[in-house]
Amino acid sequence: MKNVTVIWSSPNTDGLTASAKNMFVSGLTEKGIEVTDIHLNAKHIEMCKACGDGWGTCRNEGTCVIQDDFAEIFETLKKTDGIVWVTAVYWQDTTECFKAFFDRLRRCDAFSNRTLADKKCVLIACAGGSGRGTVECMAQMERGMNHLGMRTFDRIPVVRYNKDYMLPALQSAGKSFADCVENGFK
Ligand SMILES: Cc1cc2nc3c(=O)[nH]c(=O)nc-3n(C[C@H](O)[C@H](O)[C@H](O)COP(=O)(O)O)c2cc1C
Repeated sequence: MKNVTVIWSSPNTDGLTASAKNMFVSGLTEKGIEVTDIHLNAKHIEMCKACGDGWGTCRNEGTCVIQDDFAEIFETLKKTDGIVWVTAVYWQDTTECFKAFFDRLRRCDAFSNRTLADKKCVLIACAGGSGRGTVECMAQMERGMNHLGMRTFDRIPVVRYNKDYMLPALQSAGKSFADCVENGFK
């Protein structure tokens, strides 16, 4: 059975971001995919300390010296068959929590290890305000995936004005991504 890790960030467990995540997950599970759900806001993730002259063990060893939940999540991502990245849009960007995690992940995997390169992924940005900055947030996510060499299957913007049709579409997107994880990019 294939496994997909859904890694998401919003402090709200019943908001737009959680709804989008849940709809995507229901599409995945309907197709028989095992889902690992990681709520970043419920984890202890510190920000990068930029050790040494700017690079620490991250660059050459692919590890981070900070003792928190980062390493365990990184190990989960290495083993999974696909990753769904979901964030609320804050300041036209990903959440602070998402940034803190991703900054460290990128340092650990962009150079020496490349354990996530070619991993299939989907990006979902959820903007509950004006919707401004959704595109910028997605662009920032895309840049991060490119640094890691991940293969992005889809980029999905959810805003408060499109949620009535986007939430059902997310369930279909989950099913399509399940096919991609099973059979590869067509
Ligand atoms: C600090 C902060 C910054 C935000 N910036 C934006 C923004 O740039 N664009 C936008 O459309 N909404 C913005 N919002 C609104 C969030 O996207 C909105 O709260 C969204 O619904 C978050 O998902 P949630 O429902 O899971 O909380 C911001 C909210 C917060 C708390």
